[in-house]
Amino acid sequence: MTAIAVLGVGRVGAAVARTALQGGYDVRVAGSGAVEDIALLAEIVIPGARAMSAEAAVEDADMVILAVPLSKYRTVDPGPLAGKVVVDAMNYWAPADGPIAEFEDSRLTSSEIVTRHLHGARLVKTLNHIGYHDLEDHRTPPGTPGRRALGVASDDEPAARAVMDLIDRFGYDPVYSGPLSTGAAFQPGTEIFNGAFAREAFERELGHANGTRLSA
Ligand SMILES: NC(=O)c1ccc[n+]([C@@H]2O[C@H](COP(=O)([O-])OP(=O)(O)OC[C@H]3O[C@@H](n4cnc5c(N)ncnc54)[C@H](OP(=O)(O)O)[C@@H]3O)[C@@H](O)[C@H]2O)c1
Repeated sequence: MTAIAVLGVGRVGAAVARTALQGGYDVRVAGSGAVEDIALLAEIVIPGARAMSAEAAVEDADMVILAVPLSKYRTVDPGPLAGKVVVDAMNYWAPADGPIAEFEDSRLTSSEIVTRHLHGARLVKTLNHIGYHDLEDHRTPPGTPGRRALGVASDDEPAARAVMDLIDRFGYDPVYSGPLSTGAAFQPGTEIFNGAFAREAFERELGHANGTRLSA
């Protein structure tokens, strides 16, 4: 069974962990502090998931999902993540995070900044453009007409392929957009971020976004 570690047991982390359990994954979850801090919460909110320290959760996980506030990304230890496929579900959201200069002033996507800190991790941007409350409600089996699509961006194509399989098992059509930089098309403020699209419409929006960026 594929083991998934979810770092961050908040709104997104809990929904992702439950979705992963429904997808047949072995799920371990970790917060920022001691295991005891989240053990009861995990038992009630994510039955079936195992609460662990972040280091233990990551150690033999096949894939790691980052669901911590972006303002806290530097508190995630890059060491244990080296060589791991890591899903970056985080967004820069100034009203919640407060203004952060490195994200405000950058032409890079938030994931391109995060990947510099998590050097060695095989970072894949996805799951950032679906609300935590929709993740369990919008999932449908493969082949369902109008199945919702989610974008997947990574500089590491094999890692992206592995995550695309996860997205499919989560109940969504995965669409590979290209390198991490192309994740700009589904960051906050974009059409894709603000909407919900099936594959064909998603690919059209992706084309518009990348076309605009290339000609800017
Ligand atoms: N809300 C949405 O619908 C949505 C959708 C897609 C993506 N996102 C993005 O997903 C991320 C999480 O959002 P959220 O709404 O789930 O936030 P949240 O409810 O505040 O949960 C974040 C959790 O991360 C934990 N945490 C902080 N630092 C950590 C660390 N180093 N290791 C492990 N856990 C840590 C926090 O626990 P402590 O109390 O222990 O610090 C908190 O429980 C954000 O970047 C957000 O932009 C949100």
